[in-house]
Amino acid sequence: MTKADKTRKTDLDAILAAHGRDGSRLVQILRDVQDIEGWIPPATVAAVATGLGLEIGAVESTLEFYSFFYRTPRGRHVILFSDNITDRMAGNQAIFDHMARRFGVARGEVSADGRVSLDFTSCTGMCDQGPAILVNGMAIPAMTLRKADRICDLIRSDVPLAEWPQDLFVVEHNIRRADMLLGSDFVPGSALKAAIALGRDAWLAEVKRSNLRGRGGAGFTTGVKWEAAKKAPGDERFIVCNADEGEPGTFKDRVLMQFYPERVFEGMVLAGWATGARLGLVYLRGEYLYLRAPLEEKLAEMRAGRLLGTSVCGVAGFDFDIEIHMGAGAYICGEETALIESLEGKAGRPRIRPPFPVTCGYKNKPTVVNNVETLCKVTEIALQGGAAYEGYGTKQSTGTKILSVSGDVERPGIYEYPFGVRVNQVLEDAGARNTRAVQISGAAGTCLGPREFGRRIAFEDVPTAGSFMVFGERRDMFEVARNFAHFFEHESCGFCTPCRVGTTIQAKLMDKIASGHGTQYEMSELTHLREVMKAGAHCGLGQTAGSAIADTIGKFREDYEKRLARKDFEPSFDLDAALARARAVTGREDADSHMLDHA
Ligand SMILES: Cc1cc2nc3c(=O)[nH]c(=O)nc-3n(C[C@H](O)[C@H](O)[C@H](O)COP(=O)(O)O)c2cc1C
Ligand code: SF4
Repeated sequence: MTKADKTRKTDLDAILAAHGRDGSRLVQILRDVQDIEGWIPPATVAAVATGLGLEIGAVESTLEFYSFFYRTPRGRHVILFSDNITDRMAGNQAIFDHMARRFGVARGEVSADGRVSLDFTSCTGMCDQGPAILVNGMAIPAMTLRKADRICDLIRSDVPLAEWPQDLFVVEHNIRRADMLLGSDFVPGSALKAAIALGRDAWLAEVKRSNLRGRGGAGFTTGVKWEAAKKAPGDERFIVCNADEGEPGTFKDRVLMQFYPERVFEGMVLAGWATGARLGLVYLRGEYLYLRAPLEEKLAEMRAGRLLGTSVCGVAGFDFDIEIHMGAGAYICGEETALIESLEGKAGRPRIRPPFPVTCGYKNKPTVVNNVETLCKVTEIALQGGAAYEGYGTKQSTGTKILSVSGDVERPGIYEYPFGVRVNQVLEDAGARNTRAVQISGAAGTCLGPREFGRRIAFEDVPTAGSFMVFGERRDMFEVARNFAHFFEHESCGFCTPCRVGTTIQAKLMDKIASGHGTQYEMSELTHLREVMKAGAHCGLGQTAGSAIADTIGKFREDYEKRLARKDFEPSFDLDAALARARAVTGREDADSHMLDHA
């Protein structure tokens, strides 16, 4: 065994021991293991499997699934460019090309000196300050050519990442409109004390009374979810905070985790008080690695203040603690059952439901999964009561909603409004002019044209998880939809055929239209595919993967039409050329051996 092999083995043993040799921590273990060499060689895969008592196939399956795990060597600096449509609008390609030129490296490759590898990645949640990049997982927003040069010089001079100037890593909160949540002072422990004073059952009744609905997208009533988990058989249950925030254009959970963590964590403890759960798990997307250390510090502070741990707030029998788990680059892990699979160390593929997580979730125990913002809202309910909370917003959408506004606006950032706000009000506040379209709730959401800007943000009209991307008069909505099509193709987990095949064909059809070879045939195929995926896909990703295309075909058809070839059908490859080899083998060159139009 070489010296390097011995060091690798010692490091690996230490990592496995730190994770209690628990195979259900495989995603976390692989993240740590990858830090040893920047990638995971086959011998390490085998050693991890042996060390955890798992089949190699199980480790391989997890490894293969996540975008941020590498099976081939990478540069010492892995630079990933966020590739949401808003990053593109802000010029990410030009900065990518500039860096690629300076390092003499192509997309997906490692530079000859081994210093750098460059690639694109799905939206990193910095759309208000794009274009953004990740360097070895750490976020650098608001990239410019000048910043790119500074980074190139630091890398060339072998300055360790930890010693790079801190101004590169500053992520702004950009809170532009604060309301009930963002605008109020919060004393840590105050919400918890109020709920404890009520007692577990009365506290749950308050949450139900508030009619709070989940902010992660589906809008399920929080109190009903908590009650189902509380009543589910068994004496162990879990609270999961969904901080995966992968929907393109969404970044409000990032702001809440960075600037309001005491609210998020206290919301989790409040869920524990209502349901009897003793452990909370935060699933933090890999792109938000920079938040991990301060969040761990906040948890330590809460433990010291007896807001976490045994006998929370001095109440005997009320034990609750929180762990942070990191994701590894997979949008689908925001779907709650895929998230639970990932928490258990597996590939994040959505489970078949029922059973639902409230009865059979993490480790097959009752589990509440709530969005970051939902958990913050719970602290408001504890402080002001369910009835007061219910009076805010609209009948079916109580309270406020935080929107992540990006794109063609003067003031991109975070806007908190009472539910029911009209789209044109948000546009006005954000400084949008001559807006052509607004994509609400991300790539999976709804695209609105100007005639619909009087509509309201609410579950009863236009529901949203928070993404609000604005496109000005000169934007090409075909290119917006094509960006989303590639996003879904990349992010489909591959579990079910309608989505696996559908998202691939959809992206190819969009590329064919983009290259000027599209016809009415491709247009009707896109519409047909959307229906197949909507009806046949296993989870929300596939069911909504065609929505943006359908909306833009319906509302901005001219952006497609201007690219169409005049024919009814044009093949996406040259059939005649494809037969050349067969002709050569058979020695034929007659008319029938050619795919010519004999008409
Ligand atoms: C493809 C897909 C991605 C999702 N991503 C997220 C996410 O990033 N964050 C989130 O809170 N919910 C996400 N959801 C919704 C979750 O499945 C779940 O409904 C939510 O976390 C429940 O929390 P809530 O009741 O507080 O909204 C996603 C759903 C789907 C289908
Ligand atoms: S719809 Fe797509 S993401 Fe969802 S399970 Fe099927 S393949 Fe996976």
